[in-house]
Amino acid sequence: MNLFDVYPLYNVTPVKAEGCYVWDENNTKYLDLYGGHGVISVGHTHPNYVAALTNQLQKIGFYSNSVQMPLQVKLAEKLGELSGCENYNLFLCNSGAEANENALKLASFTSGKSRVLSFTNSFHGRTSAAVAVTDNKSINAPINLQQKVTFLPLNDIELVIHEIGKNDVAAVIIEGIQGVGGLDEGTTQFFQELQQICNKKRVLLILDEIQSGYGRSGKFFAFQYHNIQPDIITTAKGMANGFPIGSVLISDKIEAKYGMLGTTFGGNHLACAAAISVLDIIEEENLIANVNEVSNYFMEEIKQISKVKKVKGRGLMLGVEFDFEVGELRKKLIFEKHIFTGGANNKKLLRILPPLTISKSQIAEFIKALKEVLAV
Ligand SMILES: Cc1ncc(COP(=O)(O)O)c(C=O)c1O
Repeated sequence: MNLFDVYPLYNVTPVKAEGCYVWDENNTKYLDLYGGHGVISVGHTHPNYVAALTNQLQKIGFYSNSVQMPLQVKLAEKLGELSGCENYNLFLCNSGAEANENALKLASFTSGKSRVLSFTNSFHGRTSAAVAVTDNKSINAPINLQQKVTFLPLNDIELVIHEIGKNDVAAVIIEGIQGVGGLDEGTTQFFQELQQICNKKRVLLILDEIQSGYGRSGKFFAFQYHNIQPDIITTAKGMANGFPIGSVLISDKIEAKYGMLGTTFGGNHLACAAAISVLDIIEEENLIANVNEVSNYFMEEIKQISKVKKVKGRGLMLGVEFDFEVGELRKKLIFEKHIFTGGANNKKLLRILPPLTISKSQIAEFIKALKEVLAV
């Protein structure tokens, strides 16, 4: 059997990883500024994380959501405490798309309505409703296009007010900082007015923090830069450092009912052990402070490269924009300098999503390599 060929692949085969480095089968060492697409939060194969998963596997790896699961309760408490979102309830699932799918479903159950407002260049995943609220026609099949979705430009509150005024909107979904789309974000004024109109009209505000959450932006959640309290927050990527998990944080204003949401694998013992270990490491190693310190250093250093047009994003969720397409540059960085970086819908943007443990000296390594490949 062959693999279903949906991914254009770089010809690199990672076989081992540690901290911010990955090695291929020839023992070539790569600096990882991509973090497996913003997933590696506490560094590859962190010893405490490996120990937590190993120990859990030796006890019990999986049962089901029909029995008591103290690990889920512990995860919810720890996540509430570290994120400052104690007044939310937690639903666990397996991926980002699934988190958004459940968030949208919940908003529709709660409001009794079905239209969703989303934003230009958004990405929310590939399942039915999640892909429908994603601004990319080419990944929506006819079955997905049955959903009622209106895409609006970011930062135009009058258009949002106009659409919400039609009284058929269940939810507004917005990324804390756009990831795949290219690091654009709402202004503080926009986020605050969005929250006000949603509250006033009982429309649920869903913050997709799947990429921007878990400390990556320099705060636990990127929306926390704007002093708002969304109704629903979704997380995944950095949550368990590569172990598949997603979550929906649900305001305590929203009432749960048995059977409303559900999953076989979501919140299993192994996933919870991995997610708790990530939170412990974020806390013990003060990783959010590291994100801010290293990010400031990055900003200072990158400014000195004249070919860089603009730097977008926050913390360690950054986009370096050039006035040319970066495909060749990324290839040179991988194959000549052995550095992984990411791309975006905006082809002129190099995406930087390293583990949150990255050091200034590792960023210096990247800056030096970037100058060399740009020949500046
Ligand atoms: C903002 C955002 N939402 C949702 C998703 C979908 O997550 P997953 O691929 O885990 O389904 C992604 C993935 O890149 C994302 O960046």
